[in-house]
Amino acid sequence: MAKIAVLAGDGIGPEIIGEGIKVVTAAAKRHDITLEFTEALVGGVAYDATGHPLPPETLELVQNSDAIYFGAVGGPKYDAIPDPNLRPERGALLPLRQKLGLYANLRPCVLYPALASACPLRHDLVDGGFDILVVRELTGGLYFGQPKSWVGDNAVDTCLYSKAEVERIAHVAFKAAQGRGGRLVSVDKANVMETSRLWRDTVTKIAPEYPDVELSYQLVDATAMELVRRPKSFDVIVTENLFGDILSDEAAQLTGSLGMLPSASLGQGTFGLYEPSHGSAPDIAGTGKANPLATILSGALLLRYSLGAEEAAREIEKAVEAVLNAGHRTADIAEGPHVTPVSCIEMGNLVLEALG
Ligand code: IPM
Ligand code: MG
Repeated sequence: MAKIAVLAGDGIGPEIIGEGIKVVTAAAKRHDITLEFTEALVGGVAYDATGHPLPPETLELVQNSDAIYFGAVGGPKYDAIPDPNLRPERGALLPLRQKLGLYANLRPCVLYPALASACPLRHDLVDGGFDILVVRELTGGLYFGQPKSWVGDNAVDTCLYSKAEVERIAHVAFKAAQGRGGRLVSVDKANVMETSRLWRDTVTKIAPEYPDVELSYQLVDATAMELVRRPKSFDVIVTENLFGDILSDEAAQLTGSLGMLPSASLGQGTFGLYEPSHGSAPDIAGTGKANPLATILSGALLLRYSLGAEEAAREIEKAVEAVLNAGHRTADIAEGPHVTPVSCIEMGNLVLEALG
């Protein structure tokens, strides 16, 4: 039996996680996999209840689990907490990533052909859809480098990378490229940043270990441009923490909606944290409008990477595609006046039905 810690969090978190659990449970059951879900508080709701966005009980639970199924944290109410280290993002999500050593963030940005018209790009650029994997380094760079402070009129963030940190994420990316289209773009800002020069040098030295992968380099500003100019030209992108944060939102929007983008955060073993790449969307929380697909697809990644249940993962992905092909849409991806959006729960039920 696999132990899954459920951290639903704030805003739409509980709604989307509810649908995710429904679908993941059904898919696992078809393959005789039993899952035990245990909920714990995280984010703003945890702060309200305990005074800390990542209470010790929650940390203890996740440390005794096989995977974390995560909703979303944060909201305007919590942006006002005076100590930034007690705000949900910096007090819960980032420490979870760091404490658990989850350095490899995989964000599959797939434009399903059925959603091509929900993509803001011209039709001829995205006809037939695309499939890009963003491999984002998740525990280094500007997010965590010290010093990090704001004193008087001066503020500083430190961008720091070690060769070992770059090596391990590069291996993840090369291996991912081997299992897909065999093309890897390493993204940096080597014309300006020292950490980027280290990044490029390290990736170059590893490349001979993967002769079957075609490696190229791109500056991050050029990648931002190429993503909207020739999205179909990408296979795997590997990049540092902040660049990956930004580029993955850009790529996500090209898939029709941020509500479509799942993510897996992995470390050395099979343990992982699975979360939609979008935030807690407090403006639509409780309205039933949230799109649960990014969370459902994150559940597929949980089955694939933490439980080795490839078949079950594929079945969820196929079910999602079938539901989209049948024309069902949540509000964020509904196009035109003739599409009546379905609710978050209805979307979850449709995927469940499509699983069969
Ligand atoms: C993401 C989010 C987080 C990040 C925020 C909520 C801290 O934007 O997972 O992409 O910047 O990593
Ligand atoms: Mg982000």
